[in-house]
Amino acid sequence: MVAIEVVLGDITREDVDAIVTAANESLLGGGGVDGAIHRAAGPRLARAGGAIGPCEPGEAMPTPAFDLDPPVRHIIHTVGPVWEGGGHGEDDVLASCYRRSLQVADELDARTVAFPAIATGVYGFPAERAAQIAIATIRSVSTNVQQVRLVAFDEGTRDQLQAALAATG
Ligand code: APR
Repeated sequence: MVAIEVVLGDITREDVDAIVTAANESLLGGGGVDGAIHRAAGPRLARAGGAIGPCEPGEAMPTPAFDLDPPVRHIIHTVGPVWEGGGHGEDDVLASCYRRSLQVADELDARTVAFPAIATGVYGFPAERAAQIAIATIRSVSTNVQQVRLVAFDEGTRDQLQAALAATG
């Protein structure tokens, strides 16, 4: 059973095997957490992303972590759903981001993975609903990943993630 932790901080400072970024379909980098990760990993990340993209919403694709310090070896790029009110399959796409990212982590033999709160920023997905989907999906996936760290950048997101985790016991 994967151990899930909720932490408050900057995901680019996480000491894990793989860091997940909330990308856009081009994988060329953007703002938010994607921008922070691209700044930390250096310009090779955008070149590597451009070489394997585009990435469909709900899909996940790996690249090396380039200038990020060890132990981080991989960046897993996933594209969340743009929130359009909840009636356009957004929940399923978000769940797929977590599921596919863990499957890619398994392919990489990554044992520790850090996730941001995918889609809850620019893409507007409600944080409480996203937190519940994240926890439920991570719990439902059979994976060799031993530890998942859900990295919140603000206290509101941290509180939502902690509440969702507590609700699953
Ligand atoms: N560490 C951890 N979390 C962060 C960091 C960081 N350094 N910076 C931002 N975040 C948080 C945001 O506060 C938010 O809770 O990441 C979460 C996701 O927000 P976004 O980065 O806006 O991602 P998303 O909502 O999925 O939108 C993706 O935004 O940056 C563009 O290229 C990206 O087009 C894509 C879209």
